[in-house]
Amino acid sequence: MERTLILIKPDGMQRGISFEILSRFERRGLRLAGLRLLQVSQDMAETHYGEHIGKPFFEGLVSYITSSPIIAAVFEGTDAVTAARTTMGGTKPTEANPGTIRGDFGLEIGRNVVHGSDSPESAEREIGIFFGDGSSLYDWGRDVDSWIFEDE
Ligand SMILES: Nc1ncnc2c1ncn2[C@@H]1O[C@H](COP(=O)(O)OP(=O)(O)O)[C@@H](O)[C@H]1O
Ligand SMILES: [Mg+2]
Repeated sequence: MERTLILIKPDGMQRGISFEILSRFERRGLRLAGLRLLQVSQDMAETHYGEHIGKPFFEGLVSYITSSPIIAAVFEGTDAVTAARTTMGGTKPTEANPGTIRGDFGLEIGRNVVHGSDSPESAEREIGIFFGDGSSLYDWGRDVDSWIFEDE
């Protein structure tokens, strides 16, 4: 089952909408495989956002993501990466579709409340950053899974 990494960014935490956001992924049918509350260190932030090193917004992005505790979650399911990205909406909240998380809760690109991996390869890398050896991730089934996953 494909997995993806979701982060509730500091603005989502500060605004008290963290569980409202998480519940959207859960309601979509994605299954929670891991959950942590943590403060991102400078090192973790630079590793996680390594692809953006050198861009003009990089320093602001690192100070944003390290500015308060965040929630890191792993969700799994059919095409979990794409499912989560469509639930999140586009990077720039004013251009994100209404009904998506960013389209409903955000206005600015530097305050877009949620992170989701952009490919299965990124997901594997990012889950490693936030969940290490994976010993706190759970491989489990829900009684309802056969009503969400056709082949379960
Ligand atoms: N031009 C920008 N100005 C400020 N912040 C930005 C800008 N582009 C991206 N960011 C921030 O960096 C994060 C990572 O960028 P990117 O990987 O392109 O988007 P996404 O989070 O949708 O995958 C964005 O979610 C946003 O918080
Ligand atoms: Mg990205």
